Amino acid sequence: MNERKKTAWENLSKLIEECKKCPLGESRKQAVIGYGNTETDLMFVGEGPGAEEDERGLPFVGRAGQLLDKIFESVNIKREELYITNVVKCRPPNNRVPTIEEMTACDQYLMSQIALINPKIIVCLGSTPTKWLLKTTEGISKLRGKWFNWRGILVRPMFHPSYLLRNASNKVGSPKYYTWIDIQEIKQKWLELKGE
Ligand code: URA
Ligand code: URA
Repeated sequence: MNERKKTAWENLSKLIEECKKCPLGESRKQAVIGYGNTETDLMFVGEGPGAEEDERGLPFVGRAGQLLDKIFESVNIKREELYITNVVKCRPPNNRVPTIEEMTACDQYLMSQIALINPKIIVCLGSTPTKWLLKTTEGISKLRGKWFNWRGILVRPMFHPSYLLRNASNKVGSPKYYTWIDIQEIKQKWLELKGE
């Protein structure tokens, strides 16, 4: 990574860690900036940190994160090969969905992360990041399974792993069944774009 980029990441991290632009900045234990490879082509965006993430300062390290790791393992993707973050960087109390005001306040951080990484693919985990990025009100069931073009970047919505924890069936046609198809298609597209 060149010096300019390194400095940009350091400045961004500092801004996020000290941010008080919305009320979540008062209730958080710590901000969760993101994790992974900032030189990647593949980015995952979740909703917001939960209790475990707030405690540890890392994204997707609780139960949903463990399921996400299984989804990655099924296609032999390692967390270190991609970058994971959330729409909001601070935990919403009781894991409620972040408000429009909170997402608006945090948007500049997500936009900076996307600009610095400049990924070829963004995977949106669940309806919150999908609606936020694509500015749609369509439900996740209708949006998953498709590729969207967002400012020249391919966007692929998937079910949120927390939703899969609540809907554990993996019968044909279940959310889990579709998720295991989605991740295969994402891996395939990623390899294609890398020229492999
Ligand atoms: N759920 C999310 O959306 N993000 C996390 O980081 C953890 C759980
Ligand atoms: N609602 C969500 O927010 N995400 C899902 O994946 C499914 C329903």
